Amino acid sequence: MSLAQPTASSSAAPAGTNSGNGIITQPPPPTATRESRIATHSHIKGLGLADDGTAMEMSQGFVGQRTAREALGLHLQLLRMGRHSGRPLLLVGPPGTGKTAMALAMSQELGSKVPFCAMVGSEVYSGEVKKTEVLGSSFRRAIGLRIKETKEVYEGEVTELTPSEAENPLSGYGKTISHVIVGLKTVKGTKQLRLDPSVYEAIQKERVVVGDVIYIEANTGAVKRVGRSDAYASEFDLEAEEYVPLPKGDVHKRKELVQDVTLHDLDMANARPQGGQDIMSVMGQLVKGGRTEVTDKLRREINKVVDRYIEQGVAELVPGVLFIDEVHMLDMECFTYLNRALESPMSPYVVLASNRGMTTIRGTEYDGVVGGSGEGIRSPHGIPVDLLDRCMIVKTSLYSRDEIRKVLEIRSKIEGIVLRQEALDRLADEGEKTSLRFALQLLTPASILAKTMGQTEVGLDQIGELEGLFLDAKRSTGVLRGMTNGGGGGGSSVLV
Ligand SMILES: Nc1ncnc2c1ncn2[C@@H]1O[C@H](COP(=O)(O)OP(=O)(O)OP(=O)(O)O)[C@@H](O)[C@H]1O
Ligand SMILES: [Mg+2]
Repeated sequence: MSLAQPTASSSAAPAGTNSGNGIITQPPPPTATRESRIATHSHIKGLGLADDGTAMEMSQGFVGQRTAREALGLHLQLLRMGRHSGRPLLLVGPPGTGKTAMALAMSQELGSKVPFCAMVGSEVYSGEVKKTEVLGSSFRRAIGLRIKETKEVYEGEVTELTPSEAENPLSGYGKTISHVIVGLKTVKGTKQLRLDPSVYEAIQKERVVVGDVIYIEANTGAVKRVGRSDAYASEFDLEAEEYVPLPKGDVHKRKELVQDVTLHDLDMANARPQGGQDIMSVMGQLVKGGRTEVTDKLRREINKVVDRYIEQGVAELVPGVLFIDEVHMLDMECFTYLNRALESPMSPYVVLASNRGMTTIRGTEYDGVVGGSGEGIRSPHGIPVDLLDRCMIVKTSLYSRDEIRKVLEIRSKIEGIVLRQEALDRLADEGEKTSLRFALQLLTPASILAKTMGQTEVGLDQIGELEGLFLDAKRSTGVLRGMTNGGGGGGSSVLV
């Protein structure tokens, strides 16, 4: 069975249309995807495991931390087999020991087809959205659905792309696109289509030009660029373009399409006002791009449809990974929600990370205060024991000088900084004394100093100067303590 009942029409409706059963299975166009461009981890390319699952000492940008990497590798295997046990993985360890880096490596290992959602504990505190709502939508971002459907499409190499302009009837200024003429060619023949302006937008988004092979879904108007026709292949010697052969068969045909969407995509597509004449949908369209409410009821309905599709074999559930960094920032309410969400059959694989030891669980500070200290319930990593009990805990440990040196070496290469051996040694010493992060942070300023001094390589001079300019955490604490003792008095000292 196909999800959508296609209606034969040559002009297509805008993307995101109803599929006849009330629930949209078409994901919204990719507008606000979460991009994480964390430059601090750009040297990490994967977990660096050998085929047998053992961690190599230095591979894919990762150095040391072998037990933790191997543990994560094992979990990845479970995930790939679809057998993750519903137990979250908890990464604990001192700051700067690579917990965040490891989670990112995991996402790289999984590839782009498996959803990965990363969030920080403190993200749940927003003035506008409920805490549990933020968590809930993150959970749904991490659950994928692979939908196979046979759809009616127009496919072929673009031979013509002519937008037709018309006077804007509303303002009198400027022009609007009234329709677009697209010519498509296959091995068997050619066809000219007259399409809606919304399809033209989709065509522009995919950056389609004449000579590309594309397909247009007949009933939604969604446009997908498959690649460039191989008739144009020998234009350049070296190119980052994918060449595809001219499609066989007719331009207008039925085609099996595989789509990867997340449950969150489906929520958003269905929550968005669908247009219509009633006042609510008109109001809804005004706040386009604003946050739209996804109610529990809507989610339940979507779940029901998804369940049905899975039973019918049309769709396949692809559980992804939800990574919650700084998990001690969550409060009691969130933890209770987490406990429940983890037990749901549609749960992603959850990875938590924390650098705290024994600490107060947020949101319990004033529990049972009658005569109490108001200190709240203390628990390891600020996580309630019932959740902790479910976690598989993996520890990251501090680095040796040698490992710090290797990370510094990799980082300097990535950042394009040339370090003299003695400078590298000095930085490694500094890293061992203070922290890996501190040493890493000195790299870029050192290269800037070297440049201003007219040198191409970073030497001991620059490192020495930087040590005078910047304080690491320990020295900074020392300075403050000195100030307080020296006459600042009182419990809190203020820097003046
Ligand atoms: N084993 C490693 N190999 C290579 N780079 C590493 C390794 N461990 C950490 N790094 C790098 O060191 C820096 C700090 O690591 P990261 O941010 O992952 O620490 P963290 O454990 O998440 O710390 P925190 O608890 O403070 O969040 C990052 O730039 C990271 O890429
Ligand atoms: Mg971190």
